[in-house]
Amino acid sequence: MRQIAERADVSIGTVSHVINETAAVRPKLRERVLDAIRSMGYQPSALAQGLRRNRTNMLGMVIPDITNPFFPGVVRGVEDVAYKRSFRVILCNADNDPSKEASYVRELCSYHIAGLLIIPAAGADIGRHLRAYGSASVPVVCIDRVPDGWTGDAVLVANAEGAYQATCHLIQMGHRRLAVISGPLKLTNAAERLKGFTRALNEAHIQIEPEFVQEASFDTMLPRPTAIFACNDLMAFGVLQAARELNLRCPEDLSIAGFDSLEFTKFTDPSLTSVYQPGYQLGATAARLLMQRVDGLRSAPKKVLLPTELNKRNSVGPPHAAVQDGSGRPMSAGKRSGRGK
Ligand code: RIB
Repeated sequence: MRQIAERADVSIGTVSHVINETAAVRPKLRERVLDAIRSMGYQPSALAQGLRRNRTNMLGMVIPDITNPFFPGVVRGVEDVAYKRSFRVILCNADNDPSKEASYVRELCSYHIAGLLIIPAAGADIGRHLRAYGSASVPVVCIDRVPDGWTGDAVLVANAEGAYQATCHLIQMGHRRLAVISGPLKLTNAAERLKGFTRALNEAHIQIEPEFVQEASFDTMLPRPTAIFACNDLMAFGVLQAARELNLRCPEDLSIAGFDSLEFTKFTDPSLTSVYQPGYQLGATAARLLMQRVDGLRSAPKKVLLPTELNKRNSVGPPHAAVQDGSGRPMSAGKRSGRGK
């Protein structure tokens, strides 16, 4: 810094104020310092700046599964908002492992991040992680689901309403033997989607067989349901694949609905009816809320609920008469519609 001060003919303090933006500097002096920095090829140390400010321009983000195509949209929403504010995002993949998540939260807080965005793994207690490492001062926004007892900021979607709408659609198409494949029920969003499914059946006075509620596993059921609501698209694709292996046509023999409405649900055969949730908007909204906290907003914790939308496509149709009578026997291979080889 001394050489820059000499080159720009200013004090070292002025150079420090320009680099660290810690005080206003007259434009003429500021320009002389920037010219000197450029001509000398000086690269300020972001780490050193962070230590001086005891805060960096880094945001931490922890997601449960980087291989799930739903999450990149959320991350993109966060990154776009952070970039516009000259913040950078450190992305960590917890592999749905609460202990891995805890170690990431601890490590991110040791980097003096300005704030933390997290899509918590099942069974995680983010508050314990932060309290345990004396970092409760780091503003945190939960996205998509919240840990038990969470009272901080959260940006979620209307999971129960979305699942309710999808199930009502199956019922309106004539289905009376419906099954649901939920996500891990210790996740708040999975539990809410099951609630929405159950609410629709109760309102239609439809009995649900206990074995027709599967928590992310898939058993053979007879008489099999005529429709299955899977609480995310990846599980719905699994149902579609299993139907094919059982020589069941979709939707003629089995209607299938999902949740997420990922981009490629338009192109599956048949195209998948699914509840759209705005992943990008989830991330962008959470990042904007976190930026408000980083900027000093001290209001009560906020819980933002974004709407979902049911995309009705070709994987849902009226129940086939033969199947509706409860025989439920898979159609013989010869009778398949020839879809999706
Ligand atoms: O497909 C991933 C699922 O887990 C989505 O439904 C999303 O809500 C996340 O919780």
